[in-house]
Amino acid sequence: MELLRGAALLLLVAAVCWAQQDQGCTCAKNKRTSNCIGNDTGCWCTSIGSEVSVRCDKLTSKCLLMKAEMAGSKSGRREKPKHAYVDNDGIYDPDCENSGIFKARQCNGTSCWCVNTAGARRTEKSDADLQCSELVRTSWIIIETKHSERSTAVDASRLKESIKNEFKERYSLDPKYISDVVYENPYITIELKQNVSQKSAQDVDIADVAYYFEKDVKGDSLIQSGTLNINISEEPLKFDQALIYYVDEKPPEFSMKRLTAGVIAVIVVVILAIVAGIIVLVITRKRRGKYEKAEVSSKGSRALY
Ligand SMILES: *[C@@H]1O[C@H](CO)[C@@H](O)[C@H](O)[C@H]1NC(C)=O
Ligand SMILES: *[C@@H]1O[C@H](CO)[C@@H](O)[C@H](O)[C@H]1NC(C)=O
Ligand SMILES: *[C@@H]1O[C@H](CO)[C@@H](O)[C@H](O)[C@H]1NC(C)=O
Ligand SMILES: *[C@@H]1O[C@H](CO)[C@@H](O)[C@H](O)[C@H]1NC(C)=O
Repeated sequence: MELLRGAALLLLVAAVCWAQQDQGCTCAKNKRTSNCIGNDTGCWCTSIGSEVSVRCDKLTSKCLLMKAEMAGSKSGRREKPKHAYVDNDGIYDPDCENSGIFKARQCNGTSCWCVNTAGARRTEKSDADLQCSELVRTSWIIIETKHSERSTAVDASRLKESIKNEFKERYSLDPKYISDVVYENPYITIELKQNVSQKSAQDVDIADVAYYFEKDVKGDSLIQSGTLNINISEEPLKFDQALIYYVDEKPPEFSMKRLTAGVIAVIVVVILAIVAGIIVLVITRKRRGKYEKAEVSSKGSRALY
């Protein structure tokens, strides 16, 4: 009798453990989550740094991901030396709506600014009186990336197909939102376009896709299993860097002064490069006429350009 009761108890404990294990789940599309619970509709977890529940089979919004990353830097990560720093441009602790999207106005202490749907600042920083009447939609995203050296050439049309496939598989992005993929060895430019009338409620937002891609390229993937996997001619394509440009439905409201300074800097660099090229050309022409030996060094310097 005693033995039977013991066995029954053991069975009960095992059953409870089993049930609990069954409920817990891992969040396939978002590593920055806690308190995961599975039900009929799949795995649901709480996004770290907020109380918002997210669906694990879908991409999480960029706003919640950024919030989780900022929270993560306070708990769980190791303290960094006092003067250690990273390029923090673009990451801040954002205010998110319950739906996960960015609030139009973001503040840090008393400094406030307006953002687009990708959370990128689109106005000058101002004081707390700043009004942001609407969240302006980023309807066009240009991802400029680069692949590392490879032994086989990349066929541009295959590349386009592979990127469309992988973005569909990995980020659930409908290929119709990839408006173009331009290849110019080693640069790859991926253009995503999605305006408000095209996007349905189930569609993933292009800003979230761009963020997941950026994280994948930086080796800081948010997706639990597998890596970004694009093969061209049976050779995996390795991405080196990703720069993301945002085009909003309304132009940003920066003062033109800053933009002009940037444009002038680019023009100066281009002119300097042209002048340097002409000088090198003139020198190499002259030397070639005079000495045989100079040929080697002039070739070397031309190769630099
Ligand atoms: C599953 O869990 C999530 C998160 O707790 C909840 O929002 C959803 O309504 C649940 N669905 C069902 C069918 O219980
Ligand atoms: C926010 O403010 C803190 C301290 O005032 C500062 O260190 C940080 O760089 C600011 N971040 C942004 C995105 O402005
Ligand atoms: C949205 O994009 C589609 C397809 O490019 C275009 O036909 C439509 O006019 C656009 N709508 C708006 C409001 O810009
Ligand atoms: C790419 O190739 C690797 C092995 O070379 C393979 O494991 C992987 O499944 C391939 N991926 C695709 C998308 O074909």
